[in-house]
This record gives sequence, structure tokens and C-alpha cells, in this order.
Amino acid sequence: MRALAFVCVLAAAAPAGAQEAELARAKKIVAGSCFLCHGMQGESATELFPRLAAQNEKYIAKQLANFKSGERKSEVMPRMVGALTPEDMRALGLYFSRQASRPHPPTDASLAAQGMVVYRQGGAATEAAACVGCHGERGHGSESLPRLAGQVASYLATQLRNFGARVRTNDNAVMHTIAAKMTDGEIRAVSEYLSGLE
Ligand code: HEC
Ligand code: HEC
Repeated sequence: MRALAFVCVLAAAAPAGAQEAELARAKKIVAGSCFLCHGMQGESATELFPRLAAQNEKYIAKQLANFKSGERKSEVMPRMVGALTPEDMRALGLYFSRQASRPHPPTDASLAAQGMVVYRQGGAATEAAACVGCHGERGHGSESLPRLAGQVASYLATQLRNFGARVRTNDNAVMHTIAAKMTDGEIRAVSEYLSGLE
């Protein structure tokens, strides 16, 4: 029995060691450049930059690849990812997904309450699909779908406007179809709601 327990500990320890190496590799890259805007723990320096703390692993790696290939446009990010390999991108995804997200109470509670209705039921005026079906009950997304909870409200609103106007096109048109139907009031409300979720 004791021997079996020992084998189990060894089996669990092996992948943990590989993950430690990946985390160390990512930490070096973050300390070299990303921290300037996104912070060492993914809690961004100002609201100009999206928060990466607790963002989902595969989603981050995909965005980095999309910035590099030009599928996702950005003034800043292509320069940041030019030298990254796919292994670096995976390591960065793992690293940020492991950082704890901090609470960010909404600044406008009544706007956030309207946003909750949009999030759970879809846009009343525009028949935009409900967000909860894909992004989850608490806005945590899934393995490959983005976490929206605790994200900067103005960043979320900008992304929704960019999807709607087909400025951001790296999502195979899922978000375009939804965001194009949203009113600006719905965009502001749902963004305020999501920024306050933990
Ligand atoms: C000079 C500031 C700056 C630096 C440095 C920077 N970023 Fe960014 N990052 C941004 C901005 C701004 C955006 C939002 C996209 C846009 O509008 O350009 C962004 C977006 C992202 C996103 C997408 C987030 C999402 O929710 O879709 C990821 C992932 C990311 N950055 C990772 C990194 C990594 C990894 C590094 C280091 C290799 C890095 N960034 C360095 C400014 C920066
Ligand atoms: C059918 C599934 C689906 C539904 C419904 C959906 N989304 Fe998304 N959403 C996605 C996917 C997939 C992505 C990631 C696209 C990519 O790979 O860049 C995404 C990305 C986003 C992003 C960008 C996040 C970031 O960090 O840059 C925002 C903001 C967003 N969705 C908001 C919403 C809102 C608000 C609603 C409801 C009005 C909604 N979504 C409904 C699938 C969905």
C-alpha cells in the first residue's frame, strides 16, 4: 500500500516539474517586457491595458498567435510577440491563467444591473444572443473561450465595438454576428457588469 502511494506521488510530480519549467520560462518573458503594461501578475498598470490575471490558458496562446500572424490587429502587440515561439505562447498562457484575479467593484451599480440582464438574456432591443451560454454563469469562459469577469470595462466595450465593425475578425465571426446587433447602451451596460464580476 505504501509502495503504491509512493508511485502515485511520483506520477503526479513529473508533470508538475515540467510545468515549473514552463512557468519559469514565461516569468522571464513577462519580466522582460509584458510587465510594463500588463503587470507581473497580470493586473495591468492602467485601464488602457487588458487584465491577464486568471485569463484562460488556450485563449491567451491563441491571441498571441493571432497578433503575430496579423489575424488580430493591434498598434502595440505585434511588436511584443514577434520573437515568441508557440512554446513561449503556451507557457505565457499557463503563467497568466495561474495568477489570481483581484476584485474590481463596478463604479456604476445601476448600469451594471442593466448589464446583467443583457448578459443573461441577450439584448432586448436587438435580439443579440445571450452571453452566458458561451462565457459561462460567472463570466469565467472555458478552456479556450475568454474570461470576461473582472476585465477593464472600457477594454470590453472597445472589443465589442471592434467585433461589431469587423475591425477585430479573429473569432470566426461568432462575436461579429452578436456584437453587430448590440446597441451602444447594451455594450456599455454589459461591459460595466462584467468588469465587476469576480
Ligand atoms: C506597451 C504596452 C504593452 C506591452 C509591453 C504588452 N502588451 Fe499585451 N496588450 C497591450 C494592449 C494595448 C492590448 C489590447 C489590444 C489592443 O487594443 O492593441 C494588449 C492585449 C494583449 C492580449 C489580449 C488580451 C485579451 O483579453 O484578448 C494578450 C494575451 C497580451 N496582450 C499579452 C501580452 C504579452 C504576453 C506581452 C509580453 C510579451 C505583452 N502583452 C506586452 C499592451 C501591451
Ligand atoms: C456562441 C458563443 C458566444 C456567445 C453567445 C458570446 N460570445 Fe463572446 N466570444 C466568443 C468567442 C469564441 C470569443 C473569442 C474570440 C477569439 O478567439 O478571439 C469571444 C470573445 C469575446 C470578447 C473578447 C474578450 C477579450 O478578452 O478580448 C468579448 C468582450 C465578448 N466575447 C463578449 C461577449 C458578450 C458581451 C456576449 C453577449 C452579448 C458574448 N460575448 C456572447 C463566443 C461567444
